[in-house]
Amino acid sequence: MVICAGSGGVGKTTTAAAVALGLAERGAKVAVVTIDPARRLANALGLDSLSNEPRQVSVDGLSGELWAMMLDAKRTFDQLIERLAPDTRTRDEVFGNRIYQQLSTAVAGSQEFTAIAKLYELDESGEFDVLVLDTPPARNALDFLDAPARLTRFFQGRAIRMFLRPAGLSGRLLGRGSSMVFGVLQRVTGVDLLRDLSVFFRSLGGMIDGFTERARRVGALLEDPATTFLIVSAPRHDPVEEAIFFHRKLREAAMPFGGLVVNRVHQPPSDELPEAVASGLGPALAERVSVATAELRALAARDAANVKRLRDALGDPPTIVVPELSEDVHDVEGLALVRSHLFE
Ligand SMILES: Nc1ncnc2c1ncn2[C@@H]1O[C@H](COP(=O)(O)OP(=O)(O)O)[C@@H](O)[C@H]1O
Ligand SMILES: [Mg+2]
Repeated sequence: MVICAGSGGVGKTTTAAAVALGLAERGAKVAVVTIDPARRLANALGLDSLSNEPRQVSVDGLSGELWAMMLDAKRTFDQLIERLAPDTRTRDEVFGNRIYQQLSTAVAGSQEFTAIAKLYELDESGEFDVLVLDTPPARNALDFLDAPARLTRFFQGRAIRMFLRPAGLSGRLLGRGSSMVFGVLQRVTGVDLLRDLSVFFRSLGGMIDGFTERARRVGALLEDPATTFLIVSAPRHDPVEEAIFFHRKLREAAMPFGGLVVNRVHQPPSDELPEAVASGLGPALAERVSVATAELRALAARDAANVKRLRDALGDPPTIVVPELSEDVHDVEGLALVRSHLFE
């Protein structure tokens, strides 16, 4: 299992897809679980959010198989409820519940949790040799590591236990004042929030053990020696600092770190313009070319310094540098280009 982690916009989705492509070329049956692919890349891979299962991508010249899916957090959550609900009545009660409808899409960390829950399910299916996971554009990549524990804490926490008390809500938990507020809200809006809340927690009550066990196994999967984290970064200040922080947390959590991918690194231009080109430019164009060259050289120097800072901070880990390409990576050919840098 390969998990591509890093801050937003550094190329996690691109790297995950290119790693999957490279491994499929080497004969493995690979599934890549993407989270937020750019639309054109999604189209190129035949991904759509309608399916929450991997679909095979047809690429010429693979000796293995490439499968891809786009994670739909809400669908994954729903499928989890379907699996854990003791009966169809409870299931329908949860699905029809307004609180659930909001929670399953909005709850902090639910995307992280469902990503790993999906991974767990694909792993259990035994259908793939390798699973490659893209990670959500989390504000903080740590949300991801912490997601299973956070969900477990939620289900074991005091809040949910209180809601599950037989006496019900209105009497003990909420003072008369808030009951009145809820009552007024109901009359004005027609939404019985209190009832929604208590039905929600009551029907989830029977699934707590199922959830907790899931979260535990998902946590174990992250620490499994067959799992490896790739830290993806860009050669700029903020992503570099975030990658250093994430690496430290990975180590503290004893999670397996496989290596570093620094993406979109500017390459320095060659020192001199070839004479034949220079003489054909004319003075005005030559001036502009020389300004652009100087800028690119400065960018490349800045990038190289950031790559060095990152490698030093991480203790010189296995590192792959992927250059800034002249175009966005939005199709299989673009992916193949990134793949050749990754596997060179
Ligand atoms: N090496 C590269 N050169 C040029 N563009 C790239 C490169 N890697 C990624 N991109 C582009 O950068 C954008 C962000 O990449 P993406 O993989 O979606 O990042 P993330 O998943 O980390 O948010 C995309 O438009 C992608 O095509
Ligand atoms: Mg992404």
